[in-house]
Amino acid sequence: MKICFLGCGNIAQAIIDGLLKSGMQPSNIACIERNEHRVKLLKSQNLQIIELDNLASLGFDLILLAVKPKDALSAEESIFKHAPKAIILSVVAGIGIEKYSQPKSIIRAMPNTACAFGKGVTAIYSVDQNSKAFILAKSLFKKVGHVLTLQNEEEMHRFTSIIGSGQAFLFLVLNTYLNELEKISSTDQVATKSMFQDFISSLGDSFSQDLNFESLINKIKSPGGTTQAGLESLENNNLDKILQDAFQAAEDRSIEISNEQ
Ligand SMILES: NC(=O)c1ccc[n+]([C@@H]2O[C@H](COP(=O)([O-])OP(=O)(O)OC[C@H]3O[C@@H](n4cnc5c(N)ncnc54)[C@H](OP(=O)(O)O)[C@@H]3O)[C@@H](O)[C@H]2O)c1
Repeated sequence: MKICFLGCGNIAQAIIDGLLKSGMQPSNIACIERNEHRVKLLKSQNLQIIELDNLASLGFDLILLAVKPKDALSAEESIFKHAPKAIILSVVAGIGIEKYSQPKSIIRAMPNTACAFGKGVTAIYSVDQNSKAFILAKSLFKKVGHVLTLQNEEEMHRFTSIIGSGQAFLFLVLNTYLNELEKISSTDQVATKSMFQDFISSLGDSFSQDLNFESLINKIKSPGGTTQAGLESLENNNLDKILQDAFQAAEDRSIEISNEQ
């Protein structure tokens, strides 16, 4: 598979890092990027930096579009100007397939930065889900994590709110834990952070052993104990609703952004 990234910022870099870790050869990845600092980083990974003029002649299977929404439609126009038969795999948030000038040549995906560690969760959608390009796009994201195929493009908004933005909601919650731990920790900040790193990764380890949060909670709480007291406080304060409201706010904003384009 030969792939060209147009726009190589945060998310493209995460996907590239994951692809290289999965064993993909740097010679199969090319980049079009205008930011000099980014270009230096990409060159240090032995990736080819190319210009739009080379797009058609180098014969890429997919052009992965990863620019900010404001730059997406002009970038699409320049891709088709230089490579009229290109298939664009767009990870741009909020721009629906119908907004592009050639919807049939667009596949939409919403990855997250965990792709860098091979633990990405990517939602993917296109009108024709049996096409060779769509199957190829799915196999690309499978190299860097999990893939969720959506049947309806509208579901992209909800997915973005849970897995995209939702990752940041958990970071915010964990930051409260860290701040509390730092208040009582007698070791230096680096040691506390390292301790906390293990605490976070043990949550994933626990889930991979049991796969059921209710039973994991039951292993910690005992009747009338400290955990039960804390859990009751969270329930009384309606934690579930707080999170549902956050998902809804993010989803509403995603819909709003798509209407702004
Ligand atoms: N970050 C995430 O976690 C994430 C997750 C899923 C989806 N997305 C989506 O992915 C897209 C990119 O996000 P990001 O956070 O990676 O943005 P970013 O860090 O700003 O990266 C975009 C890069 O593309 C460059 N660029 C823009 N237009 C270009 C052009 N015509 N030719 C060459 N280079 C060009 C930008 O250069 P300049 O700096 O000069 O503009 C920038 O270096 C967004 O649409 C976002 O919605 C992001």
